[in-house]
Amino acid sequence: MAQKKQNQPGQDVEDTIDYLNLLVTSGLALGDMEDSGELLNMMAETAMIMGNCEGCTVYEADDGMLRFKLSRNRVLEARGVKAALKNYTLPIDLKTAAGFAATSQKTLNIPDVYSLPPESPFSFNPTFDVMTNYRSRSMLVIPMCDSRGKVLGVLQLINHLSSEHFTGEITPFPQRVEAYLKALSSQCGVVLRNLRMAEDLRLSRIETVKKFVKASEYHDTDTGGHIERMSRYSVLLYRELGFDDAACEVMRLAAMLHDVGKISTPDAVLKKPGRLTAEEFEIMKLHTVKGYEVLRGADSPFLQMGATIAYTHHEKWNGEGYPRGLKGADIPAEGRVVALADVFDALCSRRVYKESWPIDKVFDELHACSGTHFDPEIVEIFFDNLDEILEIKAQFPASDPPAAPTAIGVQAKAPAEEKKDSSEQVEAVQDMKQAS
Ligand SMILES: [Fe+2]
Ligand SMILES: [Fe+2]
Repeated sequence: MAQKKQNQPGQDVEDTIDYLNLLVTSGLALGDMEDSGELLNMMAETAMIMGNCEGCTVYEADDGMLRFKLSRNRVLEARGVKAALKNYTLPIDLKTAAGFAATSQKTLNIPDVYSLPPESPFSFNPTFDVMTNYRSRSMLVIPMCDSRGKVLGVLQLINHLSSEHFTGEITPFPQRVEAYLKALSSQCGVVLRNLRMAEDLRLSRIETVKKFVKASEYHDTDTGGHIERMSRYSVLLYRELGFDDAACEVMRLAAMLHDVGKISTPDAVLKKPGRLTAEEFEIMKLHTVKGYEVLRGADSPFLQMGATIAYTHHEKWNGEGYPRGLKGADIPAEGRVVALADVFDALCSRRVYKESWPIDKVFDELHACSGTHFDPEIVEIFFDNLDEILEIKAQFPASDPPAAPTAIGVQAKAPAEEKKDSSEQVEAVQDMKQAS
């Protein structure tokens, strides 16, 4: 928006139209904002155009403090100076202009920060000016409040310019600019509050799913960060398979639900420290159907995806999986992805019936099962992104799991003693059946 010179005939009307246009445009754009960083950036940019000023700083109120969020300054940017205020915080009190505005919820229009009246409760800290060889003068400080009057942050503009296109003398901010900037600030406050509520809702949904999964795992032995790791592996594979960010966010939670059906599996089967009999294995298989029955029919996309995953994560590419013996691309992509993520993590982890496998042996097994157990494309994606996979593995190390038995069931072997023979292959398949 072009800034108009003061005292021109018809200028007030033109300015008003410009300001309103800017407010409406920014209001429409704000409705599309999905993260607070983007919102604050846009607010700073719009505020500088509206205020025709050299700089703008945005603080976000957080736990009794004003946390520096971003700073823009055209003069310093032209000189290649960057504001290094990343972790800067101010208490919300009366000692600084921003703190005063947040505490009193009043806008401050200061002609010259170096000539504050003696009775001013707040002072100006010139440290940043000295560090950057800059001269702050006029300042407009506006509290950013939501519709209920709660302070969410502070918008601080610096050095208003008297002429259009950011030129002219530094002068105090005109009263009428102040009114429009207050409107902008309120607009942003409402959107910021909604974004925070949406984020709170998102986090509480993740927490709820984790608690739900934890409850269903109480009588399972798959502890030690398995859910966290396999969910992240699944997201990585799903993303590389071509699914977008929104779908991957759904996958992150949905993958965690893959084994919720185990809540119905008897302890005698679930915690048996050895191989399952054929009959017991039939009981174990039912966790896929039970999980599907619990989750299906929900409106929520992640519960819908969770139902699909619970139902299909033990299907195999060659049609020899369970519960339905689906084959190839008939198995939903979500089930194919989780199958690999889940088995990879299970083989790398110690379980009550088996030791963890050395990583090279796990990789050999995944290669060997490509096209039989696993979708070969997903196996290829896995190995193409091995660095990121191993980063996740390192980031969420397993906690101390129960010791694996050596007297019965799967025997723990040192890598040096291992011999790749057909019986070991059988053992690997049995491990995967039980482990995941
Ligand atoms: Fe499972
Ligand atoms: Fe699992």
